[in-house]
Amino acid sequence: MQAIIIIQPGAPEVLQLQQRPMPAPAPHEILIRVKAAGVNRPDVFQRRGGYPPPLGVPADIPGLEVAGVVESVGTEVTRWQQGDAVCALLGGGGYAEFVVVDARHCLPVPLGWSFTEAASLPETVFTVWHNVFQRGALQSGESFLVHGGSSGIGITAIQLAKAFGARVFTTAGSPEKCVRCEELGAERAINYKTEDFAEVLKAEGVDVILDMVGGEYTHKNLNLLHPDGRLVFINAMKGAPAEFNIQHLMRNRLTITGSTLRPRSAQFKADLAAAILENVWPVLERRKFVPVIYQEFPLTEAAQAHALMESSEHIGKIVLKVEA
Ligand SMILES: NC(=O)c1ccc[n+]([C@@H]2O[C@H](COP(=O)([O-])OP(=O)(O)OC[C@H]3O[C@@H](n4cnc5c(N)ncnc54)[C@H](OP(=O)(O)O)[C@@H]3O)[C@@H](O)[C@H]2O)c1
Repeated sequence: MQAIIIIQPGAPEVLQLQQRPMPAPAPHEILIRVKAAGVNRPDVFQRRGGYPPPLGVPADIPGLEVAGVVESVGTEVTRWQQGDAVCALLGGGGYAEFVVVDARHCLPVPLGWSFTEAASLPETVFTVWHNVFQRGALQSGESFLVHGGSSGIGITAIQLAKAFGARVFTTAGSPEKCVRCEELGAERAINYKTEDFAEVLKAEGVDVILDMVGGEYTHKNLNLLHPDGRLVFINAMKGAPAEFNIQHLMRNRLTITGSTLRPRSAQFKADLAAAILENVWPVLERRKFVPVIYQEFPLTEAAQAHALMESSEHIGKIVLKVEA
């Protein structure tokens, strides 16, 4: 099969198409003929030499999510059959014509969704459901701030939070991005390059914040939270070290938490997939959540897809189309 290999850590050009042996499914796995693969920021970190994949997944083929057709199933798999249309969360290996995955980490392609649209879902939906709704415990009627609203994570968080009855605020880096975030359900999108979100939201405050920025945002985030508020980290692109006032934390009973999805156990991801099938899939199928695909590239142009992601011009998801 053909796959995109990271030939060495570096710039997007280190992503090159090569031949690889076809993977074979273990008893609990399925083999997917990939139709589309989502591109995520963690793929960029992996390409540059950070964010190593967990044991058991191809170390040099990036790709955390795909959609495609079941080609064959392992001997213990009863849930899926050859020909089923699925999307899947992967530990890696998605930028390829075929990939094997734990059968429990797959979900059906939502009714009415294309393979490209379905490939844009797993990484962000798994991340957002766990961090915003499980760790952050966002409730209907609460208010929610997500930074980076035009990112793949952002467009997912805005739409799910809105669909579950929260008031949504966000930050994004241009007027166009802010308009799109408001079309997707944000009550107010703040252009962080021209406005200070801490000033804009000072009077309002929020109950839950999803942050991937860190740095100087941490202090501002903590000051915006209502009593019993929750701050959830999924990255710290502007710096991980933080200093905060423990008295403020105690007085307001704040919770600071965070997580990384990729190294979690197979059982954790299976349980998360089951929760998402029950809670999120009906929202997708009712089209209370729309896919936001910024650009699709052929698999051979994975380097261009990464260059686009690094430019941060995109709004929503970048997807690779795979023709096996
Ligand atoms: N922990 C986990 O399990 C997990 C899983 C998946 C993703 N992530 C993280 O989630 C983030 C988003 O991932 P993605 O794949 O959706 O990537 P992406 O589309 O490239 O998103 C990166 C976003 O960060 C925003 N940003 C940068 N500086 C900012 C600032 N000062 N204020 C507000 N926003 C800022 C960018 O906004 P502009 O373009 O408008 O500047 C962009 O929307 C990444 O940091 C990724 O590592 C974590």
